[in-house]
Amino acid sequence: MDIQSNHGPLGPEAEETDWLAIGLFEGQTEPPAALKETPLGALIGRLLAGNEVSGELGETIPILGHTGLPAAALLVFGLGPRARFDAGAAYAAGMAAGRKLAGKRRESVAVLLPDSDDPRAIASALTEGLVVGTRGPGLRKSEPNRHEFGTLRIVGPAEGPSSAVLSAAVRRGAIVGEAVNLARDLANTPPSEKVPADLAERARRVASEAGIDVAVWGLEKIRAERFGGVLGVSAGSDDPPAFVILDYRKGGTDAPTLALVGKGVTFDSGGLCLKTASSMEDMKSDMTGAAVVLAAMQAVARLELPVNLSGYLVLTENMTGGKAMKMGDVLTIRDGKTVEVLNTDAEGRLILADALSYAAERKPERILDLATLTGSCISALGLKIAGLFSNDDGFSAEVLAACKETGERAWRLPLDDDFQKALKSGVADLKNIGGKWGGAITAAKFLEEFVAKVPWVHLDIAGPSWSGSEGGGRDEGGTGCFVRTLVVLAESFAGRARERARA
Ligand code: BES
Ligand code: MN
Ligand code: ZN
Repeated sequence: MDIQSNHGPLGPEAEETDWLAIGLFEGQTEPPAALKETPLGALIGRLLAGNEVSGELGETIPILGHTGLPAAALLVFGLGPRARFDAGAAYAAGMAAGRKLAGKRRESVAVLLPDSDDPRAIASALTEGLVVGTRGPGLRKSEPNRHEFGTLRIVGPAEGPSSAVLSAAVRRGAIVGEAVNLARDLANTPPSEKVPADLAERARRVASEAGIDVAVWGLEKIRAERFGGVLGVSAGSDDPPAFVILDYRKGGTDAPTLALVGKGVTFDSGGLCLKTASSMEDMKSDMTGAAVVLAAMQAVARLELPVNLSGYLVLTENMTGGKAMKMGDVLTIRDGKTVEVLNTDAEGRLILADALSYAAERKPERILDLATLTGSCISALGLKIAGLFSNDDGFSAEVLAACKETGERAWRLPLDDDFQKALKSGVADLKNIGGKWGGAITAAKFLEEFVAKVPWVHLDIAGPSWSGSEGGGRDEGGTGCFVRTLVVLAESFAGRARERARA
């Protein structure tokens, strides 16, 4: 899809396009300023006066057959209340409009940039949403039901941001939207088509195209490096595990590194503690953390942000083969700690223990991990809010601030020490499950053991990673959650490093 912006005195009236899309706020009574005293403005004025459009976020109303414009058809889409219009709303509105228009093949779509205080952020987020909306979960349909547009153009009003600012924002939005779609596509890919070696190969390709250094470890290397958690979890699978190390270093040699760690269980059957059929249905998405790390790094590299990032994707299946780990087995993690396995379905923390230990050894300034870790986090916060856990108030605040900028929701939960006691094992240093309640905290407490006191944030994305159905601003299937937030975080990390270098 060719994605452009334009801008200038002719305005949206002059757009020669198949579809022109115009966002309206809830309760808006006048047409957008850019359309004042134009025939198009008059048409929108009549729709508003007749209460034909509400402006509710996610609303999409196609208007066909009107004449007098070079645009062949018009889509009016809702932006929600003006007072609450931010990047999160622009993303959701763009996604709804994109999805509506992508149902058929469209040569050209032009979208008027809505009026706001922060046109740069809105232009990026709107573009992100539009790009994401053109992609659906139907990867293997014989007749595709979503179609990218030939060209997508964001049209800035004449008195809006300069065209250089607009085109940079739209370019950023296209890159970030495509990265979100990469994460979604990977989550939506059937599990037998993305066993660890497949996913590692995909990561290698993405990384080399984006200019990221990449190393892929197979079984032998994982054994040699004493990743006992990964070896235990992968033992029940015929497909060997993999560990992918991504290094992007454009921040300068002395600048600090942000480490990103992603859980990549390409299918979680539960192992011998087998899940039920219904709870296994979406377990192909148990690799979302890894996909999100890969996608965010792709976006950061394509944006050439001046920052140092390391990414670690820890990839395995969790299966029930004859060599599967058993209850009571003891695994020795990379850092030497021993773990008694008392539930084979609590596998994410076992593989993350190795990955976090390894990441911490390389002395990053900060570590952020993303993992579809616990059903308990869904019980606590529902399907749209991630659990955030941290050993560092400053880093936690920084991640929450990035979430606020994108509208992706996370909520900090405690990491109190009594949860640690529940992880005591009579046989080994730790066991992999705790008490009956507060399972998301127990899991996070387990991970904390392996970060060697490096400032760390853990995002439990079990809820927001996946949507069982279309609706509520989300498409069915993988959501690519937190790719957008990680890009903002990398931007803020780059900004902070630059300030420090100047001081
Ligand atoms: N991958 C699951 C967590 C999960 C559940 C993600 C539902 C998305 C939706 C994880 O590996 C798991 O099975 N966790 C167990 C832990 C328990 C055995 C302590 C869980 O949450 O039930
Ligand atoms: Mn599991
Ligand atoms: Zn899992």
